[in-house]
Amino acid sequence: MDKTNSIPASRSEAILNELVLPNHGNILGNVLGGTVMHWIDMAAVLSARRHCRRMVVTAAISELSFLNPIRVGGLAILKSKVVFTGRTSMEVKVEVYGEELNTGNVKKTSTAYVTMVAIDDHGDLAEVPRVLPETDEEKREFEEAKARREEKLKRKKEL
Ligand SMILES: CC(C)(COP(=O)(O)OP(=O)(O)OC[C@H]1O[C@@H](n2cnc3c(N)ncnc32)[C@H](O)[C@@H]1OP(=O)(O)O)[C@@H](O)C(=O)NCCC(=O)NCCS
Repeated sequence: MDKTNSIPASRSEAILNELVLPNHGNILGNVLGGTVMHWIDMAAVLSARRHCRRMVVTAAISELSFLNPIRVGGLAILKSKVVFTGRTSMEVKVEVYGEELNTGNVKKTSTAYVTMVAIDDHGDLAEVPRVLPETDEEKREFEEAKARREEKLKRKKEL
């Protein structure tokens, strides 16, 4: 890979902490899935903007599962990072964890891959700097993202 003008993936890392309040919860006392999706979007925006330093819009999100509930009164922790870049698009990996604040017990609840597209000051698509995957894991994520991108674009055509 040509490393000229590339930005290390780690440069876009972000952590979003959200205290789960009663207005975020469902009648079982767990956070609403839609609220977590909103936070995933916000975490993806943070990492994408850290990478490209432009306005961004959400183009697509991967399949999303909720493996564990996060209780009202607990903490949702969202860790995000740009894992792939195209010409104007970036894929951001967002991992969601729930922390029980009374015990410190942390469980992973979701992983999402969000495609964000950069927009210039006129509202047109803007090119983004290439991401440089440095660790073995980042290199693997980069290759896997290529396949996800093809799948997302195929699904887009089917809409
Ligand atoms: C996202 C959006 C800007 C793409 O515009 P477009 O005219 O389709 O432009 P393109 O087809 O050239 O796509 C631009 C880039 O996004 C990527 N892209 C677009 N839709 C995608 C999708 N569903 N999945 C993955 N990548 C996608 C393209 O591959 C391209 O990437 P590249 O430049 O890195 O190769 C446009 O569809 C849009 O404005 N959508 C609404 C965004 C929004 O409002 N989001 C909030 C929730 S509704």
